Amino acid sequence: MGETQGQGVRVAMSILYTVHVDLGPRSYPVYIGHDILMEVGDLFRRHTLGRKMAVVSDENVARLYLGEVVEALREAEYKPVPVVVPPGEASKSVEVADRIYEHLILARLDRGSTVVALGGGMVGDLAGFVAATFLRGIAFVQLPTSFLAFVDASVGGKVAVNHRLGKNLIGAFHQPRFVAIDVAVLRTLPERELRAGLVEAVKHSVIRDEELFGFLEENVERLLAGEASPELWAELVARNVRIKAEVVSQDEREESGLRMILNYGHTVGHALETLTGYSRFLHGEAVALGMVAAGAIAQEKGLLSSEDRSRQDRLLSKFPLPGMEGISDDEVFEQMHSDKKVREGMVRFVLARRIGCVEVREDVEEDEVKKGLEAVRKFLKKA
Ligand SMILES: NC(=O)c1ccc[n+]([C@@H]2O[C@H](COP(=O)([O-])OP(=O)(O)OC[C@H]3O[C@@H](n4cnc5c(N)ncnc54)[C@H](O)[C@@H]3O)[C@@H](O)[C@H]2O)c1
Ligand SMILES: [Zn+2]
Repeated sequence: MGETQGQGVRVAMSILYTVHVDLGPRSYPVYIGHDILMEVGDLFRRHTLGRKMAVVSDENVARLYLGEVVEALREAEYKPVPVVVPPGEASKSVEVADRIYEHLILARLDRGSTVVALGGGMVGDLAGFVAATFLRGIAFVQLPTSFLAFVDASVGGKVAVNHRLGKNLIGAFHQPRFVAIDVAVLRTLPERELRAGLVEAVKHSVIRDEELFGFLEENVERLLAGEASPELWAELVARNVRIKAEVVSQDEREESGLRMILNYGHTVGHALETLTGYSRFLHGEAVALGMVAAGAIAQEKGLLSSEDRSRQDRLLSKFPLPGMEGISDDEVFEQMHSDKKVREGMVRFVLARRIGCVEVREDVEEDEVKKGLEAVRKFLKKA
């Protein structure tokens, strides 16, 4: 329980962790706590933001939380303008962004105003894109509500909308002024979304933090059943945000290649999502299978021990996952190569050397990919 100073009012808030994202002049804190959404006005005051702000949300999240956030902001004497978009990835588009610009212009937001994202990663990316581009960029705040957005999408400043020819192709880097994560909202997050988000936590642990991997092994059943205590959720989120913050602060714009390691499991994962028209797998589910493939490839290359690979597969086997029916190895291989982000025909793989340590490789051969996919099929049969 922390205490904080408002404008003359002392407000008690349950902020349990504050993680700093270290980016020089663009540094910002990520507050993690319980029931902090209704007191969010106080956090805004700490950050000297202008009075006018657009609060962007999707219909699902708006129904549950927009009222209380808008009220908290009004109480703190801000002038929030709510903007609600339809839920789903299709809203992450230039067209919907254009509708949001219209709201901002009509409400006379100016360079001193703020765009606040209240929602999952879709809302965060869309609202962030609007914040990055409106009047050449205005202040941005993230109030993430999905587990995936807690541990991944809300931190790091990547904002984007999709193009009909590919996902996330139109975007920018635009860091938020702060991120406030209220684990209480997990209560209403659909279970499948929660589980898929947890896969990104497994990813973080394999790339950077064996201790976190152990924490997940110990608590996975409770977490998957949504039965962990708020304190446990907050601890898990903080550990993950620290990893993401560390990686991002060393490679903000994906220049040194370090940030690439966050794509562990994503090479095959993206191919599976695309091949099934984003309808069979949630993102995290596809990434889980991608990690199984990457584990097998790493072992094949003599990088990863069979013990560590089995340890990863054992943890991932606790997650209920859709199957690979109707997807051929050749299709996956071709899809990986046609990915819009593939540079000069080289497909990049992040491969583990052990739990907690990975490297980026461009030398994965077709037969190794096929061995990886074979391993995925075996893994699914056992599950
Ligand atoms: N910017 C980044 O670094 C980054 C990283 C990873 C993913 N992403 C992006 O994030 C998006 C996926 O994010 P997501 O998985 O959060 O999807 P999402 O935002 O679509 O949310 C998933 C579903 O859960 C609902 N929801 C969210 N929070 C809820 C809550 N507390 N209670 C009830 N319902 C709730 C939403 O309305 C939606 O229907 C993708 O667009 C992806 O590209 C961005
Ligand atoms: Zn991901």
